[in-house]
Amino acid sequence: MCADIIQAIQPLLVSYDPQQIVVVTTTAVSAARSEVAALGYPVLTLPDGEAAKSLATVQQIWDFLLDRRITRRGLLICIGGGVLTDLGGFAASTYKRGIAFIHIPTTLLAMVDASSGGKTGINYRGLKNVIGTFAMPLSTLICPSLLSTLPPREMLSGFAEMLKTGLLDSGDLWQRLLRYDLETLPVEPLHALIDDCLAVKQRIVSADPHEEGLRKALNLGHTFGHALEEKSLDEPLPHGYAVLYGLIAELYLSVTKLGCPRQPLQQLTQLMLHYYGRPQCKCSDRQALISLMQQDKKNERTAEINCTLLSAIGQPAVNTVITPAEADETLEYLFSL
Ligand code: GLY
Repeated sequence: MCADIIQAIQPLLVSYDPQQIVVVTTTAVSAARSEVAALGYPVLTLPDGEAAKSLATVQQIWDFLLDRRITRRGLLICIGGGVLTDLGGFAASTYKRGIAFIHIPTTLLAMVDASSGGKTGINYRGLKNVIGTFAMPLSTLICPSLLSTLPPREMLSGFAEMLKTGLLDSGDLWQRLLRYDLETLPVEPLHALIDDCLAVKQRIVSADPHEEGLRKALNLGHTFGHALEEKSLDEPLPHGYAVLYGLIAELYLSVTKLGCPRQPLQQLTQLMLHYYGRPQCKCSDRQALISLMQQDKKNERTAEINCTLLSAIGQPAVNTVITPAEADETLEYLFSL
């Protein structure tokens, strides 16, 4: 956690030639962007939003690096939300076979999930993060004070990833998250919760950095979530909202297939109804959503649907294969809430 970005970043920069440091950020207003811009390094500003997570935007970053003659000893500082940190990390990890990068996440979602753990990527042919690499940032600077100006919808989106993490923890994180005030979204109580979510994630990532098995637990809610997000690319659904709907779907399957207790499903449903609203999908979308799930990158065989489910809070069951009929019944349940 850092209270002052400039103080936290300076020691990381001393071993780099100042001519070899560049910044990539987005048009979204952020105190971090203004502070780092004042250091005087060249800045590339990209459009904000999921549509920018494309090969064309990565080419813009590669061109920016080449035009400034950045070598393998260069450093890319990525300031922004999860889209930007995924994009910047991907561009850096592929440029000249990989240069160093630092993340300064400016949204709750990027702080608690996207900017840690070394996943980078872009969307391609309508599929989320289907092209990407594993590449660890040199450092990720988490400055919760940046959250004080974040819109409530962005806070709720990030909080959904925290709820996912709470469901994977065998301690009391889930109960503590449920006590957080989603009405007023205060920043101060989030500090300890962010720390604890990151600790859970780091434990999982260090045991399985390349997602051979255990790390798939962090995809809880994402098989259904990504499909819902992909289906709404024309009218974007915030990632965390899609994850929340995905968590409800996958907890329903956890109850019906693995005998998980019903309480977390009921608790999440209450949060959805009070704060997030229902998913805006129609029954006629179900087949398209199932086809998208059959392209999910967790799948190990063509056309299967692979989910992470829970047998209880803190007990993930990765690589649980579900049938298209089970997926359809689950979507019917989700859309009926
Ligand atoms: N966002 C899930 C992971 O980092 O594995």
